[in-house]
Amino acid sequence: MIVDAAAFPPHFKFGVATSAYQIEGAIDADGRGRSIWDTFCETPGAVERGESAAVACDHYHRMPEDVALLRDMGVSSYRFSIGWPRIQPTGKGPANAKGMAFYDRLVDELLRVGIRPFPTLYHWDLPQALEDAGGWPARDTATRFADYAALMATALGDRVQDWALFNESFIFTSRGYLLGRYAPGKRDLGDFLRAVHTVSLAHGDGFHAIKAVRPQARVGSVFALAPCEPAVDTPADREAAVYADALFNRLFLDPLFHGTHPAEFLESVPENVLGQEPGDERRMRVPLDFIGVNCYYRLVVSAGGERPNLPFFLFSIRNDARTTGGHGDFSGRRATDPHENPYGNPYGTGLRIENAFGRDHGARTEMGWEIWPNALRDALLLLTERYGPIPIEVCESGCAFADVPDADGVVRDTARITYHQDHLAAVADAIAGGADVKSYHAWSLFDNFEWASGYRPRFGLVHVDYATQRRTLKSSGAWYRTLCQAARQRQA
Ligand code: FCB
Repeated sequence: MIVDAAAFPPHFKFGVATSAYQIEGAIDADGRGRSIWDTFCETPGAVERGESAAVACDHYHRMPEDVALLRDMGVSSYRFSIGWPRIQPTGKGPANAKGMAFYDRLVDELLRVGIRPFPTLYHWDLPQALEDAGGWPARDTATRFADYAALMATALGDRVQDWALFNESFIFTSRGYLLGRYAPGKRDLGDFLRAVHTVSLAHGDGFHAIKAVRPQARVGSVFALAPCEPAVDTPADREAAVYADALFNRLFLDPLFHGTHPAEFLESVPENVLGQEPGDERRMRVPLDFIGVNCYYRLVVSAGGERPNLPFFLFSIRNDARTTGGHGDFSGRRATDPHENPYGNPYGTGLRIENAFGRDHGARTEMGWEIWPNALRDALLLLTERYGPIPIEVCESGCAFADVPDADGVVRDTARITYHQDHLAAVADAIAGGADVKSYHAWSLFDNFEWASGYRPRFGLVHVDYATQRRTLKSSGAWYRTLCQAARQRQA
């Protein structure tokens, strides 16, 4: 569907998103400490083709040139993340002045060209020293995070108004501590459950730490959402979809808005496994100023005739040896070794999850993710109904395709243009349906280091030739520029 700027409220922001570890490179520059991803990249077999983010897009050295690119595209918001190991090389103590200076300059450059700086504090690159001290499963990491948040708000809060605390808590805790596919590469159900709780505490602590320094700041967090549909309209599949929804969509939002983990989750997890202590409910519960949404797919869920059991489901995906699919792959299968599971139900998980199903499924991107634009509309409406009314920022939306430059060096990625047009139309529908959506950030500004998949998947509106670091606008980038410029003219 063709959408244009006029389909959105006048102050709607069209932006792009990146994250520090995926683009900056320069992992040894200016006193930066090691991160868990540096270690993970050195682990044989962890990242496809043994690739690392040591250089990535070399953004750390090319930042002014990249901000000029943002200016030329006409975006009005830039979502980036701050590399915690640049600020606190060992995860505690005072700020490393040189690391801080980089983000200070970035914010100034963005403001100079009229772009909103929209930082995320944690996009997966934990200082290695904190992992050595127990990582996210250790409660103390929440306190460390709040200290770091306070340092950032103090240094940049005179110019940055909007802060996101975390990126996709479910993805980094499950893939990092349960499935072993992302840093730090652990495969332990108990670690995962404790990490869930610590990250919920860290949301509360981080929120208050920023507000203490900058009471006027708007503080939110970014969640990976995937609307869950029953595969067949039967009571069993409907119940399975409710459980999958509790896991994917409510696990981190319910503690913030209601002070408790979802009942569907708690019913099969003994509280002491989470490490919950008296007073935690109050600590986790915070009135976020906005919710950030990344929605890449829907999930279609069936029960397989069994009662849902979330820990067992998690346990069984942990045991699955499948290696493809990127981080959207949560297809549930039977555990290969049910005896290892401490939480019972040796016969099945009660949940089978696919991200495409049935006769009317959409085409897939290079990540294997089904293209289903209404998932984004449904996610926005669901959030509004559940936690709203509340401002929502679409913090990532995008797709990877096998982009190949033609003889003139241009990537004619018409499928990506269609993807963004259809997802923008879904946002416009959600707004018409009552969702208070403030922005749309395309993932990503340019091709970058796609975690364990390395450099193969290309998500950018801008092509990066990694051998020369040459940036070239793809056709999708040129189309987005037209849209952004039209939006700016409406606001002028
Ligand atoms: C999101 C991540 C982002 C990138 C995209 C493809 O889940 O937040 O860093 O990996 O997926």
